[in-house]
Amino acid sequence: MTVKLAVLASGRGSNFHSIVREIEDGTLDAVIEILISDRPDAAALKRAEEHGIETRHIPYDKNNRRAFEEKAGDLIEEKGCDLVILAGFMRLLTPYLVGRFEGRILNIHPALLPAFKGLDAQRQALEYGVKITGCTVHVVTEDMDAGPIVAQRAVPVLDDDTEESLSARILEEEHKLYPEAIRIHGKKRM
Ligand code: GAR
Repeated sequence: MTVKLAVLASGRGSNFHSIVREIEDGTLDAVIEILISDRPDAAALKRAEEHGIETRHIPYDKNNRRAFEEKAGDLIEEKGCDLVILAGFMRLLTPYLVGRFEGRILNIHPALLPAFKGLDAQRQALEYGVKITGCTVHVVTEDMDAGPIVAQRAVPVLDDDTEESLSARILEEEHKLYPEAIRIHGKKRM
């Protein structure tokens, strides 16, 4: 059965785009009902429009996070989405939205959780000196980068890696991992 997705993105949207590609080439049985961004200038919005996907910018006020989450939540429900996909969405969700879609929100993080939670995970990995890092898709809970893991991929850290080169190598794997995780988790949720 086709999984209905809502995607939340704040930035360039390359993970969002990798999901769109797999849907378009028939390897992921899903449909993106809506792309929501907290930033009016997010490249993800433009990418969505290019693919005929409905978009919505909802302004984000960090002193009133509930307002964003209520609007986003209503829209996601109205569209009948099975899963909410955080794809480079750089805001922490409050217990309100997490509770409203409990077990149905996924996030991608550029490290092998539970290592290197939070911002700049690739830099954290380099600074620590690990030889292997990677990416993780997990179910979103109230705690940051901490919910049940759906899927992971490992990526080697090379001696001459910079933050940029390591991030690019991880990103390549993220693009394969997210569609795979949606396939795995979507089946469980339907
Ligand atoms: C990705 O590397 C994603 O893992 C990361 O932001 C980037 C978004 O790229 N997310 C986080 O660090 C969340 N903690 P994209 O906009 O091209 O998909």
